[in-house]
Amino acid sequence: MRVVFCCTDTKAEPWLEGLGQALPGASIEVWQPGAAPADFAVVWAPPQQFLDEQPGLKALFNIGAGVDALLKLRLPAGAKVVRLDDAGMSVQMAEYVCHAVIRHFREFDRYEADMREGRWSFRKPRSRADFPVGVMGLGVLGARVAQALSVFEFPVHGWSRTPKALEGVRTHHGDGGFQTFLSSCRVLVNLLPLTPDTRDILNRQTLGRLMPGGYLVNVARGAHLVEDDLLALLDSGHLAGATLDVFRTEPLPTEHPFWRHPKLTLTPHTSARTLRDESIAQIAGKIRALQAGQPVAGVVDPVRGY
Ligand code: NAP
Ligand code: GLV
Repeated sequence: MRVVFCCTDTKAEPWLEGLGQALPGASIEVWQPGAAPADFAVVWAPPQQFLDEQPGLKALFNIGAGVDALLKLRLPAGAKVVRLDDAGMSVQMAEYVCHAVIRHFREFDRYEADMREGRWSFRKPRSRADFPVGVMGLGVLGARVAQALSVFEFPVHGWSRTPKALEGVRTHHGDGGFQTFLSSCRVLVNLLPLTPDTRDILNRQTLGRLMPGGYLVNVARGAHLVEDDLLALLDSGHLAGATLDVFRTEPLPTEHPFWRHPKLTLTPHTSARTLRDESIAQIAGKIRALQAGQPVAGVVDPVRGY
């Protein structure tokens, strides 16, 4: 069995060593143009040439949860596309989102500013009932985030394409449930995959339906958000602020107005990182299962786009 590694911006050696230990007997190599075709590939943002040289590929393992970039390419016929299925990401995402929501709700950003000014000053406690949080996307990451928020006793709403039942979460689905979902929330967390249906979904109209003084946490993809619409809603005061981890252009260009906006908190696409050991264990387990003719979780539907 031949496994190739073709991941842009990722140091190959530790992955090759880990995959080698997890799959004894397999040939595991970094892809070189013109190399012999592989049975399985471990990829992140591979070049089209790599895919064009893989006629016999059984599966492509994406070393991330989102497959939007991969699905833009021409994929080898018959190869399954398999996304990372949690692999240590959902707890990181829950930490990040709970931190962002609680920081805003408890006004810790204001206390930090007070501390820098040497000011001892209390703020009036806010009621959780006034801060319903909506989670867009109730998949592997969104469901974990929604449940983590409910532990802090925020009223939590969730929105997905198909109906879902989650303890502690009021669920809505489809186009029919979208407007009610939005108008039920003050804080909106985006954990949708980027597909033709969800591109630009965070815009003036949808964000405008949030309760006044709304807050956005975008941790999915930059292309979900119409950036000028966010700036207009922040400047009009309809939105109180936003925490953004993902951007239409990454790295965020130095001249971008987001960097200097007082109502924004930015991080460099780091809310849920790929953890190498967890990912290697998951991918190796799935390669063994596929070799044994067994089904695996996390297979992407290319038509649906996630
Ligand atoms: P997932 O398991 O595929 O879940 C996707 C969820 O979105 C599902 O609940 C799905 O509904 C819902 N959905 C898809 N299209 C929809 C639509 N048109 N309308 C309403 N709901 C829709 O994905 P995941 O693992 O939770 O990851 C979500 C995204 O997070 C990834 O695609 C990636 O872009 C992003 N991400 C970001 C980072 C980071 O560091 N910033 C890290 C990892 C992932 P159904 O349940 O009905 O199918
Ligand atoms: C990161 O953004 C991922 O999709 O895993």
